[in-house]
Formats: sequence, C-alpha cells, structure tokens
Amino acid sequence: MVLPFKHEPFTNFNEETNRKEFRQALNSVEEQLGKEIPLVINGEKVYTDDKITSVNPAKKDQVIGKASMATKKHVEQAMEAAEEAFKDWGNWSAEARAEVMFRTAAIVRKRKFEFAATLVYDAGKPWGQADADVAEGIDFLEYYAREMIELAKGKPMEDRPNENNSYFYQPLGPGVAIPPWNFAFAIVCGTSVGPLVAGNTVLLKPSENTPVIAYKLIEALVEAGVPDGAVNFVPGDPSDIGDYLVDHPKTRFINFTGSRATGTRIIERASKVQEGQDFLKRVVAEMGGKDTIIVDENADLELAADSIVQSAFGFQGQKCSACSRAVIHEAVYDKVLEMAIEKTKEITVGNAAEKDVFMSAVINQKQFDKIKDYIEIGKNEGELAYGGETDDSEGYYIYPTIFKDVDPTARIMQEEIFGPVVAFAKAKDFDEMLEIANNTEYALTGAVISNNRKHLDRARYEFQVGNLYFNRGCTAAIVGYQPFGGFKMSGTNGKAGGPDYLPQFLNAKTVSEMF
Ligand code: NAD
Ligand code: ALA
Repeated sequence: MVLPFKHEPFTNFNEETNRKEFRQALNSVEEQLGKEIPLVINGEKVYTDDKITSVNPAKKDQVIGKASMATKKHVEQAMEAAEEAFKDWGNWSAEARAEVMFRTAAIVRKRKFEFAATLVYDAGKPWGQADADVAEGIDFLEYYAREMIELAKGKPMEDRPNENNSYFYQPLGPGVAIPPWNFAFAIVCGTSVGPLVAGNTVLLKPSENTPVIAYKLIEALVEAGVPDGAVNFVPGDPSDIGDYLVDHPKTRFINFTGSRATGTRIIERASKVQEGQDFLKRVVAEMGGKDTIIVDENADLELAADSIVQSAFGFQGQKCSACSRAVIHEAVYDKVLEMAIEKTKEITVGNAAEKDVFMSAVINQKQFDKIKDYIEIGKNEGELAYGGETDDSEGYYIYPTIFKDVDPTARIMQEEIFGPVVAFAKAKDFDEMLEIANNTEYALTGAVISNNRKHLDRARYEFQVGNLYFNRGCTAAIVGYQPFGGFKMSGTNGKAGGPDYLPQFLNAKTVSEMF
C-alpha cells in the first residue's frame, strides 16, 4: 500500500539551525572537492584519461570534480548493457521498480543538504534554489513511481458477449536521457527516472557543466538496488557522443531538456531511420522560453513588482521559466517599474558557497559573454533602467539588469537570454498586452497579475503558454501540482511531473480474446 504523493517540503533557511547545518554541509562538500568521477557501464565504474573539469562558476579557479568522458566505444558498451538489462528490468513488476525509486528518494532525502551543497558548488545555485532543486528531484522519484503503479493497472475496456478486452502498457526498451545544467539534479532525475520506472533502460548523458551532482543520483540509484545496466552514466563531449547517442539504431527514445537549437537538431536526426533500426524513436524535447508577466491596470502593484523581480532574477535568470518580459498597462507602468527597481536594489549577489545570497554567478564564460552581449544590444533597443554591470574576474557575475521602454519586436524581447535581464514594455489595454505576450516563437510560462475576472478568463484560453499563472510569478512549478512543459518552439509539451508524462515512454497494447 502506497500513501498518496506529497510534495517534498523546502528548507526554511530563516531558521538558524538549518543555516548552521547547511554551512556544515558546504564545508564537508568543500573538503571532498576535486574527486574523479567514473562512467558507469553495466554497473562497472570506468575511469578514463580524458576528463571534464567542473568548476564553481562563482569562483572559477575552484575545481569541483573531474568527470571521466565517454567515447563512442563506451556508448556502444552502455547501449549493449542497456539492451541486455531491459530483458530483466522491463519484466519487473511496477511495484518492484517503484520500490527502487522510493528507496532512492529516501537516500537522497537523507543526504539532502549534501546534494544541495554540491549544487551550490557545481552549478552556482543559491541555497534556497539548490534546496528546491533537490526537493524537485525527490518529488520526481516519488511521483513517477506512484504514477507507474497506477498505469500498470491498465484501463478498463467494455466487453461484448463472448469477448474479453484488455488495454495495458509496456515499456519501449533502451533510450537516452539528455538533461541541461540548470536544474542539475531535478531534471537529471526526472529525465532518467521517468523512463526507468516505466521499465525502460537508460543511458544518462549529463550536461558537461554539472557532472558532479549528476553522479550523485547514480550513486543513490545503485545503493537503492537498480540492477546493473538498467541505468548507465556516460558524461562526455556532446560534439563527440551527442549525435551518436541520438542516431544509434538501438535508441528507442530520447528524453531531452535543453535549448531550442539542440532540441530541434535532435528531433531532426531522430526522425531519420538508421540501418538496423526497427523502432520509431520517441522524442520528448523540452526547450527554451521567453516568458512574460502581464500587469493589468487594476493589479496589486506590490505583488506585480515582487513577481517580476523573483521570476526574473531567481537563480540568475537561468530558468526556462524565468520572466524576461514584463508587459505593463500604461496607467501603472511607471509605478511598477519604480517598485521593481527598488526591490532589485535589495538583491544580494555573491558566492553562495560563502554566504546565503539571492543571486550568484552565471554558469560559464560562454553564457557570461552571451548575456553581456545582450546587455549591449538592449542599450540600443531600450533604455537601461537599472544594473548592466558585469564582472568575470573571480566568477561569472552578471548583476540584475532592467531595461525599460522596449519595443515588443526588439531582440531582447524575442530571444532567450538565459540570464538576469528583464525588459519592460508598455501596453495601452489588455488586448495589446495579450498580443505582445503571444508574439514570440516560444510558449512555455507566463503570468497575469490582475483583479479583473474577465481578463483572467480571457488569458486562460488566449495566452499561449504551457504553464500559466494568475497573481503569482511565472517560475517554480511543483511536481504533481503544476505539470510543466510548453509548446510552439518551447517543446513537445512533455508535462514533466504530470499524469501525461510516463505514457510517452510506454507502448499501449490492446488484447481482445473471443470465447
Ligand atoms: P543545451 O541544449 O546546450 O544542452 C542540453 C543538453 O544537450 C546537455 O546535456 C548537452 O550536453 C546536450 N547536447 C548538446 N549538444 C548535443 C547534441 N548535438 N546531441 C545530443 N545532446 C547534445 O542546453 P543547456 O544550456 O544545457 O540548457 C539551457 C536550455 O535548456 C535553455 O534553453 C532552457 O530554456 C532550456 N530548459 C528547458 C526546460 C523545459 O522544461 N522546457 C527546463 C530547463 C532548461
Ligand atoms: N520547472 C521549473 C519552473 O517552473 C523550470 O521554474
């Protein structure tokens, strides 16, 4: 008997005992930094000479770990192991597979602060964000396990006289999980354990930016009893093994989360049938966003400014769900802008390994340069209202930045920046606000701050996003509460943490018998 799903609570860092314990976890993780991380193929640890060196983005000379890099030969071995392991794991009962996930969740929960502290170093996550990332990973383990137990019951079908019909689900086989670095535990966890608990076997290729925390999931799954070969760990250079994983004729699904460019490349390549391939590849591709908060004329302006600032600058704006466009009714535009600037002035920026700051550094030099370029572009497209400073002397710091009076078609209103930059645009009425909100190629998240029921009802159906929020920010979806995923160029609408997720990694089968 399994109790209903409950969301893993977040840690209250206002409590001194939690702060003290977390500081201890940071110290103990720091003592272990720099370790070598193996590949895991068929349950065997494999150390290679070529390594990915992961550094702390907030202190770039601090090495977090050195991950072994898989070559095509290792991928081949991992695929063989996954194919072999599928013959056993795919036949386990849903309950038995779910038990492995429940045990993994218990192991992660016990090591929660260690995992969150690792995220602080590996991904530059501030404390609260790191804690929420680990909690979301636990939620994925707990939620998908329960979903699989339910799905394994099949669906009831009508029978005519002398007929027995049944409808049930079976796993696909071996496949690939390719997560990004920005939810370096949660999405690594979700993209691998979803297909895994459904009975598939997985090759996990984590992001080259955050292999250290990804390996901790593997440790927990192994301790919980996942059989050899059911999950294989193959970090590597995506330009070397990325296409190989996707093109492989034995790959039956690709569970990808990342940028629009990589996602569309994967969709295109996966559609080509390779020699020896006998199965149409399923691709779940969750991609970028250009997310808008609309502020209506009669809105709670305090709430509006808070929602914009939290959603734009939380984790340095490095969320697919981050608010990068604030579209505001002209009657309240100046006031909301002023309040948002005042709140932004209070934001603390620094190395989260040293203190509990609101913002830390962005992930790497490439992102730092890209965001800096967008700040320059913004200066020509609108007026810099606040911020704009950058500093990469010790870490990749970009300070929170607000542009005002930006045209809805400007590049900083259209292109995903993935950093702490938000553009403000003015609109004359609700029609125009919706029009601006919908004028991007993305459709991931959005929020409406309004007290006008008619406007909220219109937005419910006309605001084109996968996750729409009323009178709150546009980030922080919770597994089992707000299934997450977008459409248009934001992805295949996979809805992570929701009831439609696992069927994407299952075949439905109908059996009809006559008597
Ligand atoms: P990315 O596309 O650069 O990389 C994502 C993953 O793809 C990484 O593991 C990377 O190594 C791998 N990869 C790169 N090239 C590949 C190739 N040719 N073949 C196979 N794999 C390849 O994205 P990123 O910078 O890691 O993540 C940021 C992006 O992810 C942003 O666009 C963000 O909006 C998006 N994102 C979307 C969601 C969502 O749910 N929609 C959630 C988080 C992040
Ligand atoms: N699921 C994450 C959020 O909602 C991306 O912010």
